[in-house]
Amino acid sequence: MSAETESSAQPYDQGAWWRDAVVYQVYPRSFADANGDGEGDLPGVLSRLGHLADLGVDAIWLSPFYPSPLADGGYDVADYCDVDPRYGTLADFDALVAAAAAKNIKVIVDIVPNHCSAEHPWFRTALAAGPGSPERERFVFRDEPNNWQSVFGGPAWTRVPDGQWYLHLFDSGQPDWNWRHPDVVAMFERVLRFWLDRGVAGFRIDVANMLFKQDGLPDVVPGSQGGPLTPGHTSMPYEHQPELLDLYRSWRKILDSHPGDRGTAPACTAPACTAPACTTPACTVAEMWFGHPDQARPYMTGDGLAQLFGFGLMPTPWSAEEFRTVIDASHRLARETGGSIPWVLGNHDVPRMVTRFGVDQDLVRAPTPEVLLGRMDVDVELGTRRARAAALLLLALPGGAYIYQGDELGLPEHLAIADEARQDPMFERTLRTFIGRDGCRAPLPWSGTTPPYAFGAGDTWLPQPEDWAALTVAAQRGDPGSTLNLYRAALAIRRDHPALGDGDLTWLDTPPGVLAFARDPGFTLMVNFGAEPVPLAWHHDVLLASGPLDGDLLPPDTGVWLS
Ligand code: NOJ
Repeated sequence: MSAETESSAQPYDQGAWWRDAVVYQVYPRSFADANGDGEGDLPGVLSRLGHLADLGVDAIWLSPFYPSPLADGGYDVADYCDVDPRYGTLADFDALVAAAAAKNIKVIVDIVPNHCSAEHPWFRTALAAGPGSPERERFVFRDEPNNWQSVFGGPAWTRVPDGQWYLHLFDSGQPDWNWRHPDVVAMFERVLRFWLDRGVAGFRIDVANMLFKQDGLPDVVPGSQGGPLTPGHTSMPYEHQPELLDLYRSWRKILDSHPGDRGTAPACTAPACTAPACTTPACTVAEMWFGHPDQARPYMTGDGLAQLFGFGLMPTPWSAEEFRTVIDASHRLARETGGSIPWVLGNHDVPRMVTRFGVDQDLVRAPTPEVLLGRMDVDVELGTRRARAAALLLLALPGGAYIYQGDELGLPEHLAIADEARQDPMFERTLRTFIGRDGCRAPLPWSGTTPPYAFGAGDTWLPQPEDWAALTVAAQRGDPGSTLNLYRAALAIRRDHPALGDGDLTWLDTPPGVLAFARDPGFTLMVNFGAEPVPLAWHHDVLLASGPLDGDLLPPDTGVWLS
């Protein structure tokens, strides 16, 4: 590891911009298609920046747009420092960053350090160089596989023609890097600097809990998954290895050594920051699922990662008690450590919340065959009501929040994609027992009444539903009651209200099935998860409601902001 490893970084500033930022996730292939080839691209994102500025987000996170054979939707990266021609050019990227900055929107990019693409030049060289070569040392080649399974299903090892096996914890097109090799460490340092030089405001780190594998690659002990899972004390030999903490400290130093004018955020007030041009520190946000807070705690010391995604609400059924348990656990952890856990209700890996909240809630956590195959009954109207209430909850919670593209339109999961049209490698790797993640990746509807809804000019890479005419941006823009206008109003209030953003909350006493908390000064959030209307908490004004109120009663599946 480089000299930048020794840790002396100060904890992040409590006023760092990301602590209360609302970040919008752009899945570039499905956002907007400017060149008419059926796939979204960077000029498409640029052409629709007005939508994001009107929405009022602080930053966008771009899922991978790097050259890739798309074995896993771009999370198989063949070149970390370029733009895939299907998405445009580096000049298009620069133009997007500049145009976004002009609208006060920062740009976060995705970094994929656990694995690359089988088309990455170093992997091709390793294959050609043969067993025992130094080139193979950059990856994990063995003469015999162990018993590890791919996260996508099936074995985590693939045999090459000379008889050796290589490790891929995801698709076979995604060979894992050997993070104990100095070339790998140095290469990713160059990658970070490359994008920092282009003005990015941070990095979303893909599967940030993996990267290092336990020495000797021991077999997974069957049934060991439920054990203690803190770094250095893990029962899965490919997760949470202690070296991760040092690695992220070294990345923090690189980020801090790259001061830059990343948009027009307020000046950095970090006491430790001496760089004259430092206006806005760059952020890291780690994709890391954690079940128990103790698993996350070591990463939250504040001298390495800036943020860990708070994913806990995504697999949570529509229940006041269960939502409160998850919120308490994350919020307590953030308070105790001084760290930052932005809230998440959707992303490109999970079924959309309209659909999650519109099914029998016993199914939300249970991987039953009907859930895996998307064959459960969905009440879209009910799911939409709940998703709107959940949006008000998301944006009222203390800290930052991530919004997945299309959630601001209340899009449901697209469940009716034909098997032949499915692209997610999980579909085939699970022998078609899991439909995969295509349903939340359908191209966005912008205007018009039939596909492609002005996503682009022609057929889209994944089909869109026929019944999205009322969900397009254009259709919703003029409808005061639309989900789009609910998000806009919420973000506008959030921007100005002194109680919202980072800070604390105080739970209020409520009947069962209702969540309510107060935030100072003068703000109350209430969500009715139950089946009966309940009286509104004491208030002067109703700032915003996710659905019609019944006088002074809050109807079921409705959220409200009060002052
Ligand atoms: C997490 C990403 O969000 C997901 O889309 C991807 O398939 C895996 N990591 C592997 O890179």
